[in-house]
This record gives sequence, C-alpha cells and structure tokens, in this order.
Amino acid sequence: MRSPAVHLESPRLVIREIQRNDLQQMEAWQPFSDPLHRLWNIPRRTSLSREIWFVLHSSDPTRLWFAVQRRADKRVIGTISLREIVMYESARLGISFGADYVAQGYGSEALRLFLPYYFDELGFQRLFLDVAATNRRAIHVYEKLGFQQTDRHYRSIPDQEDLSFLKEEPYRHLRVYFRQRFGHMQLQFYDMILERREWQKQLGQPARSSRPGL
Ligand SMILES: CC(C)(COP(=O)(O)OP(=O)(O)OC[C@H]1O[C@@H](n2cnc3c(N)ncnc32)[C@H](O)[C@@H]1OP(=O)(O)O)[C@@H](O)C(=O)NCCC(=O)NCCS
Repeated sequence: MRSPAVHLESPRLVIREIQRNDLQQMEAWQPFSDPLHRLWNIPRRTSLSREIWFVLHSSDPTRLWFAVQRRADKRVIGTISLREIVMYESARLGISFGADYVAQGYGSEALRLFLPYYFDELGFQRLFLDVAATNRRAIHVYEKLGFQQTDRHYRSIPDQEDLSFLKEEPYRHLRVYFRQRFGHMQLQFYDMILERREWQKQLGQPARSSRPGL
C-alpha cells in the first residue's frame, strides 16, 4: 500500500511516507557490531532485498512503510513499518534504526509520535509486534510504552550463524532464551500487543472510538 501523505513532527524527528531514494541512505547505515543484532531480525520466511521489498510494499495493501528523519540534518535514521494490516482493527509493527542512531532516545520519541497517528488518525484498535527475547533494549522501550507480552514462540536460527559469542561473559545470561530442537538452535521471541484502550489509559485520555463517522 502506498503510505498515506503524512508529516508528523516531534522535537527532533519527522515521520513521513518513505520514498525510493531513502533506500540509499538506509544502505549507507553502519552495520551493527553487536553479534546479537543478526538474531533480532530472523525472518519467518526468506528475506528479500530492500529494493524488491520496496516495490512489494508499495503495491501490497496489507503494508505501510514510513521513514524517520532527523530534523537537524534531514538524515533518514530509521523506519517504521506496519504489516498484516486489517483496516480499523490491527497491524504488526516493525521499527528499525541504523546502528549509529540507537540508544539516543530516538526510538522512544518516534513511537510516541507514531502511536497517536496510528490509533487516532488511522483508527486502529490494537498494535501487535514480535521481538527476540534477547533484544532487551527493544523490549524495554515497548514495555515503557504500554505493550504487554501475550505469548512466546521459537524461531530456528540459520545453521551458519556463529553463536560462540554466547560463551562470553556479556552474553552468557541470554543463553536461557535459546534451545536446541531437531538438531537446530532456536531463539525465543515474544508476542506483544498494545491495545488502544491501554494506550489511552496511559495518556489519561478517555476511551473513544476513532473510526471515521463513529
Ligand atoms: C529497538 C529500537 C527501535 C529502540 O530505539 P532506541 O532509540 O535505540 O531506544 P531509546 O534510546 O529510545 O530507548 C532505549 C531504552 O532501553 C534501555 N536499554 C538500553 N539497553 C538496554 C538493555 N540491554 N536492557 C534493558 N534496557 C535497555 C535504555 O536505558 C532506554 O531506556 P529509558 O528510555 O527508560 O532510559 C532501536 O534500538 C533499533 O532500531 N534497534 C535495532 C533494530 C531492532 O532491534 N528493532 C526492533 C525489532 S523488534
């Protein structure tokens, strides 16, 4: 689905529809040095190149994709995506910032900007996401914003993935989230949800329907 014309502003960020030439900036993001990062985005199925993904996104009615731009230098530093969209009901959130832009409050600021748009303007009732149990920073941000864990599931880690870093001290405590099944290593993921009512309660807003015309 083509992202709707949107321009949201917070003190440091703009969220707007993504454009094809944003991909070049995203390709230039520095890679993550943390070996855990490779495991945060294990796809459920095969992954596609960003270019192909962009074309599919633009024509897929169940997906929306937004750029997060830094106001100071107009750099695209992150993206927010919605997939599995059921209009006025629910969608699944994806959020990703370049390695140089994480842990500076941008993710929390972007979601605080995006959620009112998602619930009040687009009129959804709930927002789903799934996150690797080892992605403690992301989980902290989601919980801070009111997301609650509803379930958990395991995903198989590609066999070529080197997990020897789990023997090292900074990572040892994360081994509880891994298991071996049928000769393959698997990683636990959390299913999380933010209900519109829960989000409004946090903001101290009265619950109201946002469906156009209701
Ligand atoms: C997940 C992501 C969007 C979060 O955005 P961010 O800008 O890095 O996060 P913020 O700086 O806003 O907030 C980080 C919070 O996590 C906390 N945190 C950092 N590392 C932590 C850890 N190991 N354990 C627990 N909390 C941690 C910080 O203290 C901060 O908390 P606070 O706001 O209460 O002080 C971003 O890190 C990212 O894009 N990561 C790479 C891709 C990814 O993981 N996407 C999510 C897939 S589900």
